Amino acid sequence: MHGTENKIFDIAWAREQFPSLKLQVNGHAAAFLDGPAGTQVPKQLMDAIQNYFVSANANTYGAFLTSRRNDETIRSARAAMADFFNCDSNEIVFGQNMTTITFALARAIGRELKPVDEIVVTTLDHDANVAPWRALEERGVVIRQVDIRETDCTLDLDDLKRKISARTKLVAVGYASNMVGTINPVAEITKLAHAAGALMFIDAVHYAPHGLINVKTLDCDFLVCSPYKFFGPHMGTLYGKREHLEKFKPYKVRPATNTSPESWETGTQVQELIAGIGAAVDYIAELGRHCDPSVKGRREALQAAYRATQQYETALLSRLIAGLQAIPDVRIFGITDAKRFDERCSTLSFRLGNHHPTEIATFLGERGIFTWDGNFYALNLSERLDVEQRGGVLRVGLVHYNTADEVDRLLAALREFASL
Ligand SMILES: Cc1ncc(COP(=O)(O)O)c(C=O)c1O
Repeated sequence: MHGTENKIFDIAWAREQFPSLKLQVNGHAAAFLDGPAGTQVPKQLMDAIQNYFVSANANTYGAFLTSRRNDETIRSARAAMADFFNCDSNEIVFGQNMTTITFALARAIGRELKPVDEIVVTTLDHDANVAPWRALEERGVVIRQVDIRETDCTLDLDDLKRKISARTKLVAVGYASNMVGTINPVAEITKLAHAAGALMFIDAVHYAPHGLINVKTLDCDFLVCSPYKFFGPHMGTLYGKREHLEKFKPYKVRPATNTSPESWETGTQVQELIAGIGAAVDYIAELGRHCDPSVKGRREALQAAYRATQQYETALLSRLIAGLQAIPDVRIFGITDAKRFDERCSTLSFRLGNHHPTEIATFLGERGIFTWDGNFYALNLSERLDVEQRGGVLRVGLVHYNTADEVDRLLAALREFASL
C-alpha cells in the first residue's frame, strides 16, 4: 500500500453510505470483517438498481425508450470501469463473475495453443486463476506452478524466473492473495512474461478494494476483477487489450455480434447489476471527492479515495497485527513487519493453537463479528501451508468501512476464546 499523502478520511461519512452496517446480532453491532468474500454495498448502488427497474428495464438495442436507456446504462458502466482500470471503454467486458470469465477466456486462448505450449500459474492464487488454465492440460498444454516462500507467503521470484521460458504462452498471477494479503510485483512479472513472448493475465479480484489498478502502467494483457469485492454487485469484469479481444475468438452464438467487447458477453447480461457496477465506481469516486474536494475528473477522484483508504486500512492492519501477536499461540501467515506493509493489503489469516477455525468463526459470529474460515478456494496455498487437513485458517478482512473499535472487539473476543 503506497499511501503517502496525509488525506483526511471521514469514516463516519463512509459508513453512513452503507445501510447494512447498522445490522445487529444478538444485541451486538455487526462487524463486517468478511469483505474478502464480498463487501457490503452503498445506498447509491441500491438506488441505481431500483432506478434501472423503474425506468430502463429492457433488452439491448431496441428502437424504444427503455431499451435506449438500458444501452446508455451499459455504456456508462463501461466508461466507469474504464476509468477504474485506466483503459478504453471498448476494452471492458462484463460477465457473471471472475471464474466464469476466466474459464471462457482460457477456452478461447486454448484454441490457439498446441501441446508443449506452457502456462505458468502460482501456488499463491485462488483456484479460479489455476483451474481454468489447468483445464487446458486436456489439449496437451503444460502447466508450470510457481512456489512461494513459506516464511512470508510471498511468491518465489527465482522459481518464477526458472518456470518462464520460450515455451511459455501465458503467465497467470494474482495481484493480491485473498488468503494472506500478499501483493505480488505484477508489473515486474509482466515484464518477465513479455520478455519471453508470453501474455500476462492478472487476477485483481482481491486487490481491487485495496488499491487502484492502472492497466496502462502494468502493461498486462488481461486483468479481471469482481465488483462484489469492491462495494459493487455480484458480477465480474475483464479488461483485455483491444488487440487481444479482437484476435482471440470467444465461443458464441451465431446471431450475436462479432465485435468486441460485446462478442465476449455471452447471452443477455444481468443488466440491472451492470447499472450497479457504474454506481459502485461512482461511490468510490464520491468518497475521493469527499477526501479531496480539489480533484478534477473521475480517475483523479478514484486516486484520492484509494490514497486515503490505503492509509486508513494500514493503520487498522497494524492494530490488528499488534493485538494478535500479544495473544499466545497465534500463528499469523504472511508479512507482519510494518516496514513491508507496501507488499501486503489488510487481509490477514491466522491459526490459534490447535483450534479448528470454524469453532473460532462460530464463537465470533455469535458476538456479531463476521470472519471466514477455511481455504477460500486458495487451495494450493492451504495445502502448501499444511493447514488444509485442519480446517484451513481464520481470515479477517479489513476494508475502509471497518473501524478500530471493530478490530478491538475482535481482539477482545479472541482473548476471551483463547482463555476458555
Ligand atoms: C483472488 C480471487 N480470485 C478469484 C475469485 C473468484 O471470483 P468470483 O467469485 O467472481 O468468481 C475470488 C473470490 O473469492 C478471489 O478472492
